[in-house]
Amino acid sequence: MLKKIVTFRPSFTLRILTGLVAFLFMLSVCTLTYVADITTTLSERDLQFRGRLIEQGARYYKDQCARCHGPEGKGIDGIAPGISNENFLGQVEFREVDGQRVIQQIKPSKRLAELGYKGTLRDYIRSVIASGLPIKSSADWADPHPPFLDSYGGPLRDDQVDNITSFVINWAQAPKPDGESILPPPPGSGGAPKPTAVPLTADQEAGKQVYLKAGCNACHAIKGVGSQGAVGPNLSKIYTLSAETIASADYKSKVKDQPASTTPEDFIKQSIHYPNAYIAPQCPTGACPAGVMPQNFKDTIPAADFDKLVAYLSMLK
Ligand code: HEC
Ligand code: HEC
Repeated sequence: MLKKIVTFRPSFTLRILTGLVAFLFMLSVCTLTYVADITTTLSERDLQFRGRLIEQGARYYKDQCARCHGPEGKGIDGIAPGISNENFLGQVEFREVDGQRVIQQIKPSKRLAELGYKGTLRDYIRSVIASGLPIKSSADWADPHPPFLDSYGGPLRDDQVDNITSFVINWAQAPKPDGESILPPPPGSGGAPKPTAVPLTADQEAGKQVYLKAGCNACHAIKGVGSQGAVGPNLSKIYTLSAETIASADYKSKVKDQPASTTPEDFIKQSIHYPNAYIAPQCPTGACPAGVMPQNFKDTIPAADFDKLVAYLSMLK
């Protein structure tokens, strides 16, 4: 009797099916890798690269964040709010537009709107992680948010904070329903004296670093920022102060070719580049001295840094 040799020869249809399944699997792996907070077009390479960064973020999240926010970001009663829910993240999805994979925000974050935060979701998450929130927004939480970035005394580098941020934002593809998560208390609730201290945007934070690096705090004070100098005026509300100065009857510029400023931003710029254009009347120890503030910041602070410095000072209202 002839022994029939059986070899496995899948039918044509089966082979096509297997191929299709594998393709769909790859597609979903790539799709699940990265989400931005605005509409972005991404190539496959981008997706794969960012996917790896998110995986790293996931590891740091497990080490650093899960003990307070829970392993899936649902929050822990009395310890920390949920950060994987729709209220906080909104929702995004991938769509094909003209053959390109595009990330689209289909629901914005209600939480950011409630806080009146002007930056992006990425900015907000990044700054909460980096600097922490030194003042608790509510008595609901046992401890305030710790800082994580090394320059704030935390354990993480810049790129690690970035990757955790990407990991958290990645949840926006399938956010938890609000009913399943602990929602943050509304600002000002829970017996706390103040609403959540809204962290700075990336540019404002960079401006604060310029302020510290240029040594402005040797002479000036900004509440909670570096050492508190008492030679020049307190700058904690410099935007409001500048607006008042411009509006006052005796305001004029004393430097030739430097016309009087008409907006608080311009006034702030001029005060740094041409300190003698206007001598502030009141310094902590009496009348302000002329010629004490260095006259060469226009040469020593690069233009890009200067813009960030002004953006930062302009939010001090
Ligand atoms: C010691 C506990 C603790 C740890 C650890 C912690 N958090 Fe938080 N987190 C909090 C608390 C408490 C709040 C609410 C703070 C407030 O509103 O005052 C919060 C708030 C947040 C918010 C803002 C939520 C909102 O609705 O405004 C984000 C985002 C966040 N945490 C992310 C993280 C990430 C990412 C990590 C890890 C790097 C982390 N947290 C580690 C306790 C913690
Ligand atoms: C050596 C001390 C000193 C340093 C350093 C210094 N300032 Fe001043 N600053 C003063 C004094 C004094 C005045 C008030 C006299 C005047 O208006 O020029 C002043 C005025 C100002 C004003 C105008 C305030 C007002 O109410 O009109 C601004 C804005 C300002 N400084 C910002 C800065 C910034 C930003 C830096 C760092 C890049 C800086 N200063 C560095 C001493 C200093």
